[in-house]
Amino acid sequence: MLKEFQLNGKVALVTGAGRGIGAECARVMAEAGARVMLTDVDLNACTQVQTALLNQGIECCVMQQDVTDEARWQEVVNETIEQLGGLDILINNAGILDGSLVELDSLEQVTRLNKVNIESVFLGMKYAALAMKPDGAAGKGGSIINLSSVAALAGTIAHSAYGATKGAVASYSRHAAAEFGSLGYGIRVNSIHPGVIETPMGDHVKHTWVNLGIMPDEESADAMVKSMTSLGRNGTPRDIALAALYLASDASAFVTGIQLSVDGGMANR
Ligand SMILES: NC(=O)c1ccc[n+]([C@@H]2O[C@H](COP(=O)([O-])OP(=O)(O)OC[C@H]3O[C@@H](n4cnc5c(N)ncnc54)[C@H](O)[C@@H]3O)[C@@H](O)[C@H]2O)c1
Repeated sequence: MLKEFQLNGKVALVTGAGRGIGAECARVMAEAGARVMLTDVDLNACTQVQTALLNQGIECCVMQQDVTDEARWQEVVNETIEQLGGLDILINNAGILDGSLVELDSLEQVTRLNKVNIESVFLGMKYAALAMKPDGAAGKGGSIINLSSVAALAGTIAHSAYGATKGAVASYSRHAAAEFGSLGYGIRVNSIHPGVIETPMGDHVKHTWVNLGIMPDEESADAMVKSMTSLGRNGTPRDIALAALYLASDASAFVTGIQLSVDGGMANR
């Protein structure tokens, strides 16, 4: 591998790493040479990912973390630096989806989405930046990658509240990129915008359409998603993790504040 794409000597923290995109991001970061801390609200799931990686000869650490808990963010960042010797990469991946129509959404649903999808990104960027900036406990700058969505860039039925949270993630990322860059922190911030990916959350999009009577069955919902995608297939967690590797590595050293679509062309249609 070209040296610019290698992560040897770097430390990565990945949230929501118990399954799906987060688990694959953790695997790819480790395969590229990083020492990795995996966190998830579901510790058992995270430990299963850790065991699978250990069986492949890849060592990594795990911590239980609810990304909405501010005190836990401080502990996780401190422990990562203590156990792994630094912090160079944060992948703010943990998120939830709760699809519904605007007229059926409740304020409680919208508030919960905002808390998990937006506030967690704020907390992650805050405590990572404090650690990564020149006088911070890690002190070497770094790369922060926030998981947004195609839903931030294109409208679709029954996902407005979720899409709004992901729009906020994109905007937060652009502003933080400008701020950290201007302050000379050496911290880059970019957002990734997946299309529909083969994970439990990706399946949830199709369940929502069927449950609301928008599509007759899962098969038709899947066909609809593929017809909305120029490349005619669902994405895989690996598709997203490889984009994250680019943004995490020195190969993207001059890239900050971008919205990287990894959606098979969905946002472009
Ligand atoms: N799958 C898709 O089609 C898709 C599309 C666009 C964007 N995304 C985004 O990518 C990210 C990962 O998606 P995924 O498909 O892997 O989701 P997923 O639902 O399959 O997995 C999400 C993980 O996050 C964890 N999590 C949920 N709430 C948490 C909390 N409060 N604290 C800590 N961990 C928590 C879950 O336990 C789970 O392990 C999310 O931010 C999602 O919005 C996914």
